[in-house]
Amino acid sequence: MMKDDIERILISQAELERRVAELGAQISADYAGKEPILVSVLRGSYIFMADLTRHIDTFCRVDFMAVSSYGSGTVSSGQVNIIKDLSDSIEGRDVIVVEDILDSGNTLHYLFQLLKARHPASIRLATLLDKPSRRTKPITADYVGFEVPDEFVVGYGLDFDERYRNLPYIGILKPSVYKDKLGLE
Ligand code: XMP
Ligand code: MG
Repeated sequence: MMKDDIERILISQAELERRVAELGAQISADYAGKEPILVSVLRGSYIFMADLTRHIDTFCRVDFMAVSSYGSGTVSSGQVNIIKDLSDSIEGRDVIVVEDILDSGNTLHYLFQLLKARHPASIRLATLLDKPSRRTKPITADYVGFEVPDEFVVGYGLDFDERYRNLPYIGILKPSVYKDKLGLE
């Protein structure tokens, strides 16, 4: 079974639900009377996006973008490729970028430069997870769900080799899973 690959649960389903509701309430207060566009960075943020937006009590729009960072395995490089662009213009609008995890910051540093060039009225970042110990780019999130240690995490949208996104919690994989995949041992 999929769950047998998990060594331990880092953030439970109940903790996720509680914290995402808090973030939604905070965003609702901060954007009262406005109509932000929430931009989900696919694919890792799809579950966070779905849950977060249901806790936002202002009018809001949703849009989606897909980017890939080149680099092998679990480390992202500085290069980012747009695979799917936004459907709508963000010019003059309040944008909230919704991410699964802020790690080195490479992906979001690039993405923010790109989106700012389209002249939104404002742009903020909401990330479910933050791994500040790994940051190499000067970027901080406006809304953070949880700070996590420097371990590779999966679940609640986050994958390892496209698996485990459908776990209802955030977990840490057993080392044997990586080793098998990487052909070690
Ligand atoms: P950077 O380093 O550019 O991270 O901030 C970019 C993307 O890398 C992925 N990432 C992870 N995915 N578990 C994952 O499943 C992790 O621990 C992890 N760390 C980074 C993620 O897609 C992020 O947007
Ligand atoms: Mg991602």
